[in-house]
Amino acid sequence: PTSRPLAGKTLLVTSGPTHEPIDPVRYIANRSSGKQGHAIAAAAAAAGAAVTLISGPVTLADPPGVTVVHVESARDMLAAAEAALPVDAAVFAAAVADWRVATAGAQKIKKGAAGTPQLALVENPDILKTIATRTPGRPRLVVGFAAETENVLANARDKLARKGCDWIVANDVSADSGIAGGVMGGDRNSVHLVTTDGVDSWPVQSKDAVARALVARIAAALKDPA
Ligand code: C5P
Repeated sequence: PTSRPLAGKTLLVTSGPTHEPIDPVRYIANRSSGKQGHAIAAAAAAAGAAVTLISGPVTLADPPGVTVVHVESARDMLAAAEAALPVDAAVFAAAVADWRVATAGAQKIKKGAAGTPQLALVENPDILKTIATRTPGRPRLVVGFAAETENVLANARDKLARKGCDWIVANDVSADSGIAGGVMGGDRNSVHLVTTDGVDSWPVQSKDAVARALVARIAAALKDPA
């Protein structure tokens, strides 16, 4: 049992970027490899959980033992997340595009004729906030991520309150994070686990090790009576 501390639990994980179409050949996206989110899904499955991973477009293979739903846009990711409920815990590691183009072109926008396209943007739904504030259907434990380039902890505490989640995994994705080559796309991560009780700063470690540590914390939290 100690090797499968999440046996009998259900988990939802979002991972990767979303792609927001401009037209059939162009899109808006955030930088995200999906490595951290996929590692969390894999670690949770290895710990015995039934895991649904909702993945934006990534080049990673589907983790073994995980139900993977592939999506493109933020709106598709939200629909897939809602369809995966109810779950015991949800981890939102995806780098969701904040905006989408109001009216994506049905055909490829041609250069020239009409001058430079003026893209009108509209805000995407906040998937984390939507699920964290749902009644009924809110998972018992809701974990968000905060990728920041400055004021990492202050921004994370602010996000915890604003989004209605229980924990924020905050990471410093600035060029001077101390991780050679940077966090994004790399295999190592430097994170702080921010909860209403305080902050745990974890050592720089591989994204797989961050995933295992987070899964251990999730298992401990779900073990307590609700
Ligand atoms: O507001 P910000 O994008 O910095 O918040 C990051 C957290 O919120 C991450 O956990 C991310 O997966 C989640 N998020 C989301 N839907 C959005 C924007 C962010 O689920 N539209």
